[in-house]
Amino acid sequence: MKRISAVFFWCVIAACSVSKNRQSSALTGLTLEEKVGQTCQITLDAVAQTDAQGRTLVPLKLDTNKLTEALVKYKVGSILNVSWHTLTRAQWQEITETIHAYYASGRIKIPVIYGIDAIHGVNYTRGATLFPQEIGLAATWNPSIAEEFARITAYETRASGIPWNFSPVLDLGRNPLWSRNFETLGEDPYLCSVMGAAIIKGYQGNNSASIDSLHVLACMKHFVGYSASMSGRDRTPAWIPDKYMKELYFPPFKAAVKAGAKTVMINSGTVNGIPGHVNKPLIQHSLKDEWEFPGFAVSDWEDFNMLHTVHRVAPDLKKAYEQAFNAGVDMSMVPLSPDYKTYCESMIQSVNEGKITLDRLNDAVNRISSTKQAVGLMNKVQPSLAQYTAFGSTQHKLAAKKAALESITLLKNNDILPLNASAKFLVAGPTSDNLIFLNGAWTHTWQGMDTSFNTQGCKTIVQAFQDKYGTNCIFSKGVELFKEREVEQSRFVTLEDYIKKLDEVETVVLCLGELPSTEKPGDLRSLNLDSKQLELAKMAYAKKKRVILMLVEGRPRIIRDIVDQAAAVVQCYLPGDHGAEALVELISGEANFSGKLPYTYPKYDGVMEFYDRPRSVDRSNVGDFNAFNPEWPFGFGLHYGEVSYEHLKSNEVLRENSPWEISVDVINKGNREIDEVVQLYVGDEIASMVPAGEQLKRFQKVKIPAGKSVTVHFVLNKTDLMLVNQSGEWVFEPGTFTYTIGSLKGKVVIN
Ligand code: BGC
Repeated sequence: MKRISAVFFWCVIAACSVSKNRQSSALTGLTLEEKVGQTCQITLDAVAQTDAQGRTLVPLKLDTNKLTEALVKYKVGSILNVSWHTLTRAQWQEITETIHAYYASGRIKIPVIYGIDAIHGVNYTRGATLFPQEIGLAATWNPSIAEEFARITAYETRASGIPWNFSPVLDLGRNPLWSRNFETLGEDPYLCSVMGAAIIKGYQGNNSASIDSLHVLACMKHFVGYSASMSGRDRTPAWIPDKYMKELYFPPFKAAVKAGAKTVMINSGTVNGIPGHVNKPLIQHSLKDEWEFPGFAVSDWEDFNMLHTVHRVAPDLKKAYEQAFNAGVDMSMVPLSPDYKTYCESMIQSVNEGKITLDRLNDAVNRISSTKQAVGLMNKVQPSLAQYTAFGSTQHKLAAKKAALESITLLKNNDILPLNASAKFLVAGPTSDNLIFLNGAWTHTWQGMDTSFNTQGCKTIVQAFQDKYGTNCIFSKGVELFKEREVEQSRFVTLEDYIKKLDEVETVVLCLGELPSTEKPGDLRSLNLDSKQLELAKMAYAKKKRVILMLVEGRPRIIRDIVDQAAAVVQCYLPGDHGAEALVELISGEANFSGKLPYTYPKYDGVMEFYDRPRSVDRSNVGDFNAFNPEWPFGFGLHYGEVSYEHLKSNEVLRENSPWEISVDVINKGNREIDEVVQLYVGDEIASMVPAGEQLKRFQKVKIPAGKSVTVHFVLNKTDLMLVNQSGEWVFEPGTFTYTIGSLKGKVVIN
């Protein structure tokens, strides 16, 4: 290793971080091996002690020889992940301090950056605060909740010694079959942009140039189009025409870049036949050049290799590395051993052969090292973990409960809720009795299925009901879910008991849903909820019971056959460790509902349409056949009480450069406080490309005391009304626009 003083080295980097050429010259102190090492990210297992079969030891122990080989010989610049399960803070402290000591003692010139998937709280640290998954955060329609979630998660991630979070997912949830729907902020680009930007702010704090020890680097995932796979199965092909890439899939990423996001992870799938990791027009031209994203791009898991092994666009691994790196991916999540060694060795060879230019390598290393500097890694002494006294605090847990309270969505209520406390009722169903159903995947383990790590002291749904209603709440599960050969299955359990208990009650709280899962293991064959779960509801209906359906699910499963007879339906999403407590407060009427669907809830699995469909979708030639017939529309959600909208006011005619001002009075007609999400939709009457029927343009969640009203004001500009035309350009086309808030509609002419 060529040695220079690290202090001198970083002064030079800082001084030269203004222009690309000058940045490159700042890297002259690094050897080629050191530069290549900076672009290499390995998983923790690669440096952990293993048993004779090569399995990582439990409890996890670092293998100093492997670590030294990776960091000193191969000069690896980043480590990620957890082994197979969640660790204590003390374990994290030992791991991260051991790794940082290589830099602090001068054995390596640039510190290692540790990254983790802390996607709904720092879900791989014991005792952490677990929030609703992103889909639930989106259902709050409250950016301040999203920001607070991220602020607390950042704090608890730093309290675990980790400065980099692979979150948020900014992929649009546009295929409900997709196993990662719950990781998204829903189907709409505007909602996703606003909530996503709030999460970036919460993670990184107010100064993205210098991220303090209470915040982490955010990572926008997965750039771009990953969620749009046609089959709905994970990492299968997507086709996205340029217009829809620009109008739908780009905006959340653009908003996140504007909010200062420092890192990005690349889409593992393919779009229009091009693997995400070789899509230079998207990564280099759009993201880095056009949007001026200053940070670095990390690959997804093994995705450099997969260009050869799976996607078959590279004849060998070496060419695969060259393709991805030259397309603009700065760091390869290789991530295993010995693959990372092959990676480092062939990258060095590729640079020596001129297949990868030194300029390109310098650009990547500059991006990575300046990001490490921004997050404070260059300090030899890292913040002591003892200072994070609020880790897992009551205050943090209350914030997680508040997020769940604002997300859980009331979809139907035939005067059964709030639930009368005096009568005996039955809680049943497969998702009623374990925390894993509330948390979903990425909780303690990757798939979130191991119940042995469940957070002590947090309640399952049935426990929360029993704590609230005492012996009036009886329980029988009825059905359990399990996996057989990777496929989710269900079977009856305690069925006789369930049937017997049905006779003892008038009301059934039936908790339905799915097993935790993500990525490939979460692939589905059908969106229909399995027949045994439906059967539980039908048995109760046959006995004339009033059934409250609780949906505990990461994606909207089709329940058409049991909706009409249900007395109430509640969408819980994956509300996290404090979800059951929140749910019971809502059901009992102690708190009011305010969540709204962040997606269109389908009724038929042959009809997947979104709220912003073109008008042609609604065309009907034959009676009541209407292709767009969701179970519940995007943005829908009830509360206790009634809200009405009056006095919608707007300009009627305006010049294109003038602001368009719209206001409406929102009146709470009930006798309790309501939080209402006021949503403004705009439709372009005539456009050169088929316009969406309507698109969400603004929203605001407002608190309205009982019997009072508030006036909500929105201002739109020409840029809010632009579309991508046939030449692929963003343009404003003057004309008539319709607008809708609640049931009120109006028209404006803009010329
Ligand atoms: C997932 C990413 C995740 C990464 C690291 C991948 O399989 O697609 O979202 O950040 O693994 O765990």
